Amino acid sequence: MDKLLIEGGVALHGEVTISGAKNSALPILASSLLSDETMEIANVPHLHDVTTTIELLGRMGLSIVVDEKMNVEINSSGISSFFAPYELVKTMRSSILVLGPLLARYGVAEVSLPGGCAIGARPVNLHLQGLKAMGAEIKVEGGYIKAKAKRLRGAEINLDVVTVTGTENLLMAATLADGQTKIHNAAREPEVVDLANCLIKMGAIIEGAGTDTITIEGVSDLKGTSYQILPDRIETGTFLAAIAMTRGKAKLKKTNPDILDAILSKFKEAGCRIATGSDWVELDMSNGDLNAVNIRTAPYPGFPTDMQAQFTALNCVSNGTSFVTESVFENRFMHILELQRMGAILKLEGNTVIIEGKNRLTGAPLMATDLRASASLVLAALAADGTTEVERIYHIDRGYETIEEKLSKLGARIRRMPGRIKS
Ligand code: EPZ
Repeated sequence: MDKLLIEGGVALHGEVTISGAKNSALPILASSLLSDETMEIANVPHLHDVTTTIELLGRMGLSIVVDEKMNVEINSSGISSFFAPYELVKTMRSSILVLGPLLARYGVAEVSLPGGCAIGARPVNLHLQGLKAMGAEIKVEGGYIKAKAKRLRGAEINLDVVTVTGTENLLMAATLADGQTKIHNAAREPEVVDLANCLIKMGAIIEGAGTDTITIEGVSDLKGTSYQILPDRIETGTFLAAIAMTRGKAKLKKTNPDILDAILSKFKEAGCRIATGSDWVELDMSNGDLNAVNIRTAPYPGFPTDMQAQFTALNCVSNGTSFVTESVFENRFMHILELQRMGAILKLEGNTVIIEGKNRLTGAPLMATDLRASASLVLAALAADGTTEVERIYHIDRGYETIEEKLSKLGARIRRMPGRIKS
């Protein structure tokens, strides 16, 4: 398995381009199941999760053409299977996003239950409850969700917990249901809005995306369209943390500062100088000193859980004691043990980690466990003295496009070491 070799202590400078959002691309690729006309999707990030989704849809018989710029042309009229196998779903939980579209368009779906993962149990009960409210017959047996529906009908759905992919699954299902659906306590993430905007371009009738109540009037069919994926706000935040932690100054292009409010305000609170334009963000921490900041994660527009590990790492090298509370997932602290191996002083009490800041971290051999935890280890390594090896970086490849190339462009001393081929 590949690993990353990082020499810390270099202040990052220069410019780098942000990729399309993973968490927009995945549901929008799945939405191609809702129409038998061609969809052209641009700014798709070149990520392992995206290639897994393309493989899943390809196995179902969809025709998919990807060009060298990762523009994806996809047509589902040749679909031959409504099955999402465990071997793929276990590597990428968001495969569950084919369930709603398959039920809405074809009335049948067999999708492996996504297991839990390092950060939590990750149940999908709310996805299933919502689809049942829309008239689907659903049983779970042998680790598979087996669902069918003559035609989904509109329903009032109250989500007990804010769920991003739950909202997305039900939103997609409702576009072709008979009648009106209201989703209450809906997720408000920009990626949900991006999906809704794409569905509206396909002819869906949707109001309220981005608020906690989304109203959908079902239609009989949806058209093909062309759509450009939103920039990735979490990749943006991750790179901003790298610039801040190395006391650098750099600019991130092809991003969108309007969906970064909670993140940018925390960087400003930490003492970073931030400048923004319509599609760029620049962070300047040269000759500065970081102040640790308290974080409590929450659904959008709150501080994103997907940035918690990165700010935990930032607080380790900042002045002062800080408290980081993870309120979305029950076990999103796998990075703590690895940061401690670098000399960070952190203590976990319940779902809050207490961080004694201002420590010189030292490089060490580390192991990645999940996507955002692995990103936080790379950040810590960039700020540390000495050399760090991060193993199991397939986790990081799931959510960051060629991270070592982009960081190298900013001056980081980082390279990918091909894993030893097992003899
Ligand atoms: C999405 O995951 C994102 N993934 C995650 O990003 C992100 O961390 C998460 O939303 C929260 O923002 C994609 O969009 C592909 P949830 P999702 O359903 O939808 C509970 C990354 O790093 N819940 O919003 O799976 C659940 O246990 C990934 O890019 C239920 O109880 O998360 C959790 O506590 C990681 N029942 C809370 O809701 C359900 O049926 C939020 O989970 C569904 C969820």
